[in-house]
Amino acid sequence: MKVTIVGAGNVGATCADALAHRRIASEVVLLDIRENFAEGKALDMMQTATLNGFNTCIAGSTNDYAKTANSDVVVITSGIPRKPGMTREELIGINAGIVKNVSESLLKYSPNAVFVIVSNPMDTMTYLALKETKLPKNRIIGMGGILDSSRFRCYLSLALNCPANDVDGMVIGGHGDTTMIPLTRLASYKGVPVSQFLSAEELKKVSADTMVGGATLTGMLGTSAWYAPGAAVATLVDSIVNDQKRLFPCCVYLDGEYGQKDICLGVPVIVGKNGWEKIVDVKLNEEEKTSFAKSAEAVRNMNNVLSSVTN
Ligand code: LAC
Repeated sequence: MKVTIVGAGNVGATCADALAHRRIASEVVLLDIRENFAEGKALDMMQTATLNGFNTCIAGSTNDYAKTANSDVVVITSGIPRKPGMTREELIGINAGIVKNVSESLLKYSPNAVFVIVSNPMDTMTYLALKETKLPKNRIIGMGGILDSSRFRCYLSLALNCPANDVDGMVIGGHGDTTMIPLTRLASYKGVPVSQFLSAEELKKVSADTMVGGATLTGMLGTSAWYAPGAAVATLVDSIVNDQKRLFPCCVYLDGEYGQKDICLGVPVIVGKNGWEKIVDVKLNEEEKTSFAKSAEAVRNMNNVLSSVTN
């Protein structure tokens, strides 16, 4: 299976590394606009093949989309990352133009690929990619909910003092500091509701930490995070190329589901070789429904800015 990653920065390169390490793809193309940058990263990773025991071929390319031809999955990570104090939404002006051009170039060479959008503001970039490529909605997936859910499970495990793999939980809604919705009510420790082990106060803190999970790291690192984002993209790509039918919250086009239309937003979906194959209807309570509607409103406001920044 061939996977192209556009953007050989921290997130893109970490994702390529994970795809090889975890033997998810046989061929990975890493593309960047910086002369020789993706080639350098690819070569460095290829030199770990005998050390890490993988046979994936990783190739770099300086903006030559011909090398990406016939990819099964394409991942767009390009654009500028946020700096400390910035919201993901502040990146829209620059990143919208980049995502638009990159999507068009990818589509030309890989008309049958599933598109994974990572660039921020991710929900709006997913909507933009869908409108620009005019691809069937199932083939455009925004990656945010998997990352936010892994952060949620991490913070829950720290509060519970247990391994994160023993904790389950999902974050739906937008991939923004104020738009994401950690579904605390449905989170469990080996199937037992976490509310049996953690107080309302503790759960509130876990939710709050999850929502600013990315911003906290941006403050500590001076740029946005990459280990968890790269690993989260690789996990999504794994479910696509290996047709695993895993259930993840992903940013997808809603056409009435969850009470929303003409918007891309994070909801639980089944992911397989055709992209997202089915939206899973989790019964939200009134409070969660209100949060979801608010999240949609914020993302819709951001989408409305698109026409003024992409022309
Ligand atoms: C984050 C960026 C990748 O949440 O959106 O770290």
